[in-house]
Amino acid sequence: MIKPNIYVEKLDAYSITPQDVWSDDAPPDILKIDWNEAPSDLTFYQKELKKIIGKSNLIAWYPDCLSIDLIEAISNFINVRPNFILTFPGSDVGLDTLCRSYLNVGDKVMAICPTYENFFVYVNQMGADLSKLVLEEPFILDYELVANEIESHGELKMFYLANPNNPCGYAVTSEIIEKLAIKFPQTIFVIDEAYIEFTKILSSAPLAEKYSNVVILRSFSKAFGMAGLRLGYMCAPIPLIQTMNKIRNGKNVSMMSQKLGIFAMENFDLVKSWIDEVVFSRKMFQDWCINTDVEFFPSEGNFVLFKASSPFELCKALKAEGIYIRNRDSLLPGYVRITIGSRSQTERLIRTVEKFMNYLVD
Ligand SMILES: Cc1ncc(COP(=O)(O)O)c(C=O)c1O
Repeated sequence: MIKPNIYVEKLDAYSITPQDVWSDDAPPDILKIDWNEAPSDLTFYQKELKKIIGKSNLIAWYPDCLSIDLIEAISNFINVRPNFILTFPGSDVGLDTLCRSYLNVGDKVMAICPTYENFFVYVNQMGADLSKLVLEEPFILDYELVANEIESHGELKMFYLANPNNPCGYAVTSEIIEKLAIKFPQTIFVIDEAYIEFTKILSSAPLAEKYSNVVILRSFSKAFGMAGLRLGYMCAPIPLIQTMNKIRNGKNVSMMSQKLGIFAMENFDLVKSWIDEVVFSRKMFQDWCINTDVEFFPSEGNFVLFKASSPFELCKALKAEGIYIRNRDSLLPGYVRITIGSRSQTERLIRTVEKFMNYLVD
């Protein structure tokens, strides 16, 4: 047998989303709220895409590998200088590239958990030594606790925090991240801000310009509703950008994604009205949880984690109604996660869940 890389061999395959939503026979009213995407296309992209498609050679030519116009637009949007920014086909690829560029066998990496577990794959494939700092409910990240844990581990190469956290929904201030970065200058602080647009907490992106050990990941998949186009970026200190550029494949960020990304940032009022709608619906859902005695974690993202007495049965019953949610029971016993969409999508979810209250509360 041909042997794979020994670290890859040890991994379990990541569990993917149900595939039936992609079938041509799938009913048109499927409500896909399992993976924290926008549940349906934001119509302003469809209009813009039609215009973009009319431009020459977007299909035949490789894209602009340096994403020059896109990086300039990102720089204006987040107020970080262009040479501190690197684009990727999704922030996942940014995480992977960072791990491949910086981790060696046996390097110590810590992740605040529960968290977005795809990151573990990128760490483990390098043979690095991952430790999970599991926060207790209600998941408050305390500076002293984290600093003591890092100290007791000896020198950490990398520290990962999803901020806001997926799946629990809490967010951490930039001040705490800055304090940690100053205290541990040899550790790369990887702050995954996939959901930052849904919270009032400020992005830590400016820290990447200020410190040699802070890396911020941003995504167009969540608040921007562009998960299918695969676009994300990283803000990182220049030496790290230079290192990652040695292995980053710029051909992977398509011209459609680059152009739609620029459009989205230049027309942020459109995206903002979607974000406002989600924030409104999130409150509506959380209020419903309060009124019906369903336990949940207040969320700063476009999702809510809530308790079910029978998570598996609840997911199954909702699926039969065309609503796909995520069972998080294996990560946090008794919990399921829903993505928050528009007001009407959330109303449909609530109406449907109300039919199955016996799977929620005992
Ligand atoms: C915390 C976090 N980071 C990154 C991603 C992936 O983002 P992208 O689509 O930009 O690769 C996700 C997707 O669920 C996520 O929850």
